[in-house]
Amino acid sequence: MALNLFDLGLVGLGVMGRNLLLNMADHGFAVLGYDKDLAKGKALEQEGAGKNVAAASDLAALVSRLKSPRAVLLLVPAGKVVDAVLGELVPHLSRGDLVIDSGNSHFKDTERRLKELAEKDILFLGMGISGGEAGARHGPSLMPGGPRAGYERVRPILEAVAAKVESGARSAEREVGALRAPPSALHSPPSALHSSPSALHSSCVAYLGPGACGHYVKMVHNGIEYGLMQLLAEVYDLLHRGLGFDCPKMAKVFEQWGQGELDSFLVEITAKIFRKTDPKTGSFLVDVISDVARQKGTGKWTSQEAFDLQVPFLTGDAAVSMRDLSGQEEARRAGSRALLGAHKTFSYEPEAFLPHLEAAYHAASVMTYAQGFALMQAASKKHGYDLDLATVARIWRGGCIIRAAVLEDICRAFEAQPALVNLMLDPKLAQEITKRQRDLRFVLRTAIDLGIPVPALASTLAYFDAYRAARLPTNLIQAQRDFFGAHMYERIDEPGTYHTEWDEMQPGLPSLPN
Ligand code: 6PG
Repeated sequence: MALNLFDLGLVGLGVMGRNLLLNMADHGFAVLGYDKDLAKGKALEQEGAGKNVAAASDLAALVSRLKSPRAVLLLVPAGKVVDAVLGELVPHLSRGDLVIDSGNSHFKDTERRLKELAEKDILFLGMGISGGEAGARHGPSLMPGGPRAGYERVRPILEAVAAKVESGARSAEREVGALRAPPSALHSPPSALHSSPSALHSSCVAYLGPGACGHYVKMVHNGIEYGLMQLLAEVYDLLHRGLGFDCPKMAKVFEQWGQGELDSFLVEITAKIFRKTDPKTGSFLVDVISDVARQKGTGKWTSQEAFDLQVPFLTGDAAVSMRDLSGQEEARRAGSRALLGAHKTFSYEPEAFLPHLEAAYHAASVMTYAQGFALMQAASKKHGYDLDLATVARIWRGGCIIRAAVLEDICRAFEAQPALVNLMLDPKLAQEITKRQRDLRFVLRTAIDLGIPVPALASTLAYFDAYRAARLPTNLIQAQRDFFGAHMYERIDEPGTYHTEWDEMQPGLPSLPN
């Protein structure tokens, strides 16, 4: 490979970085990787033998071998590492070069970095990437935001490597995999590799908007991911502890659900998980996995941001709290000995309960997407992202962790009403959840009777019920605030703010006996 011929450089050759580079190389792009662990560079060259992929020995060498203006993509752990890499990289760059941060960076860090790099005339994109190792290798969902000029520069590469989706098909068929470059295209310029317009339309990448909106959208993606995973964990608890289903039976349930309306990546992998055995013990692997759920923080950030924007994300909050509670192993062990709870057993025909559970998860998952999209709708106004939520739904239909058949409906809902404040108000989705809410209530009653904790299912239904309540009991909270702190309240019949001396006896009323 001659010098200075690489289309893109990538820093961080972990699982995601290495696979994304190989994906780019498969599409005929000449790509160069660097990792401070040089062994990773060597491994990349071995794995990419015969492809247009190489490894640089340091950042200076990486930069010097890129076509100008340069494009450098970072796939390093979010936080201080990104700043450290930028600190080392930027002195080697020139005005007009482009840096893309594809880690799970906090959107506020991305905003700051955008400003810092703009002062140096360096374009900076914050790009969420979803789909894990397989997605990076064969087609992720990509969520870029920042200066449009930066996006346009790498658009052919991103469109080529992103997941491809056919509209209207079930998820297994929907995802047609990243377009493969014919061998003859390997030495063609990237422009020769552009997908056809119709294929472009179904590529799971799109320019989302200015500022840090790419990382914002990825953060909300993860908040939804946390919510859906917790809902599925609760469904699993009901099936396993409640109905007494073993792993093969649960695998069958999720396989069946995945063939129907619940067609989605998370349901699909859940079925596969229940089939996996542990070579060490011969048990089903899920049974020997510790119940302490780890987290890198993106779900928590979503809830924190939802609180800041005063847009509730109850399902995500419950999911984060349950991961936290899962970490309190000692306390839970003590609690399991000390605290008595429900002692009812499941009293229905298990097979007859399954359709209710399926419908309950269906409704709750739609309500979870609704909360995530409502948050993005509000954030778009607050942060000036001007997000097109139909586009967000479109690029989530393939490649990402929360891809699901229901995203077709979500996409259609926002195409019809781009300013829709809540997906639950879309006539079709409203009908879908309304007809399943009784199942959700029935499942919740069952879980409560059995003493099975279902905070995500319960708070999701509470969100729905609160959203459809024209009057909430929060008037009492206003009265209490005014009582103890003279915080004032508003009346329903007159404008203005009011204060009452709540403890004063009303004239004309007899005083209370002591
Ligand atoms: C994705 C995922 C991914 C995330 C993991 C782990 O879209 O591919 O969201 O980016 O890092 O899901 O996240 P937690 O460690 O926070 O569970």
